[in-house]
Amino acid sequence: MLVNLLSDTVTKPTKAMLEAMMQADVGDDVFRGDPTVNHLQERVASMFGHQAALFCPSGTMTNQIALQIHTGDLEEVICDKDSHIFQYETGGYAHNGRSAIHLIDGAYGKITASQLQKAIRPGHDWLPQSTLVSLENSCNKGGGSFYTLEEVDVIKQVCEVNNLKFHLDGARLFNVLVETGDDPRDWGQRFDTLSICLSKGLGAPVGSLLIGDEKLIDKARRYRKVMGGGMRQAGILAAAGVYALDHHIDRLKVDNDRAKSIGQVLNKCSFIKHVNPVHTNIVIAELVDTSNADDLVSKLESVGIMSAALGGNTIRLVTHLDINDEMMDYTLKTLSSLTL
Ligand SMILES: Cc1ncc(COP(=O)(O)O)c(C=O)c1O
Repeated sequence: MLVNLLSDTVTKPTKAMLEAMMQADVGDDVFRGDPTVNHLQERVASMFGHQAALFCPSGTMTNQIALQIHTGDLEEVICDKDSHIFQYETGGYAHNGRSAIHLIDGAYGKITASQLQKAIRPGHDWLPQSTLVSLENSCNKGGGSFYTLEEVDVIKQVCEVNNLKFHLDGARLFNVLVETGDDPRDWGQRFDTLSICLSKGLGAPVGSLLIGDEKLIDKARRYRKVMGGGMRQAGILAAAGVYALDHHIDRLKVDNDRAKSIGQVLNKCSFIKHVNPVHTNIVIAELVDTSNADDLVSKLESVGIMSAALGGNTIRLVTHLDINDEMMDYTLKTLSSLTL
C-alpha cells in the first residue's frame, strides 16, 4: 500500500474531472476569448463578492502578482515569518515585487493586530515604506491553523488606519470555510486581493485565481503576461477548476477530520514531542530531541507512507482527495505501532 501524505498537491484528476476537461469549450485566453476561463473567473469573483478574478497557472504566480501590484521600490510587505511568500517562493518578493519583506514572529503562522501595529514603519526616508500586509489562511507551515473573521477584522482596522493594502494567500481557504461555515464573500470583502488555489485540496491539476476589483485585476493581467502566465486554450484547465468547485468543496471536511485523527495518533507516539493543534488538513509534529525527522520520513517511506521533513526536526503530513478509508486505517495502525 502507498499512502502519499506528502502534500495535497499530489492528487490526480478524477475520471469525471478529466471528462469535464475533455468537454471544455475553449478559445484564446490572451485575447480574453476562452469561454471556460471567463466563466471560471466570473464565478470565482462573484463567489467572493469581488468584481474580477484572474486565472493563473499557480498559487506562487497569483501571490507574486499581488506583490507586484501592491508594492514596489523602497517599499515592504509585512507578513508572518512562516508565510509561503517568504519561505517558499524563491525570494520572489525581492525579484518580482522589488520590495523588502518585514517578518513578524507570529504563532502557528498567524500575526496579531498589535504585532502588526508595532511592525509598521514610521515614514522616515531612511526606512522602507510599509505598504502591504499579507496573511495566509490556512497557514501551511503553521500546521493548517486559521484566522477567524474577528481576528482579521482587527488586523484590517490597523491596515485601514495606516493606509496599507491587504492581501490574502488563501491557497487552502476552502479547507477553512468548511470548518467555519463562513460565506466566501465574508472573506472577499475584507481583502484588496485574494489568491485561491484549485490544485491543492480541490484536486485540480493546475490553477489559482487572483481576486480583486476590476482595476487591480486589469493591472494583474499585465503582470501575468510579463511572467509568461498568459495561456491560450486554458479552458481545458479551467474546466477542471469549475468541476472542482462543483464537486470537491464540501468533501474537504473529510480531509480535515482525517488529519485530526492522524494528529491524535501522533500525539501518543513516543518519538513525538509536540503536535501542532490540527485545525484543517495539515499535521505538523515535532520529534523528541533524540529522534530525527529525516529518519522518521525514511522509516515511514519504507512502510509505504510518504511524509515531508520540514526542518527544525518537524515532519508534515497532509490529507487530500486521493486518500481513502483503507489508506487511513493503514496509516493510523502503522503510526500507532511505529518505533524509531
Ligand atoms: C499557502 C500556500 N500558498 C501558495 C502556494 C503556492 O502554490 P503553487 O504550488 O501552486 O505555486 C502554496 C503551495 O503549496 C501554499 O501552500
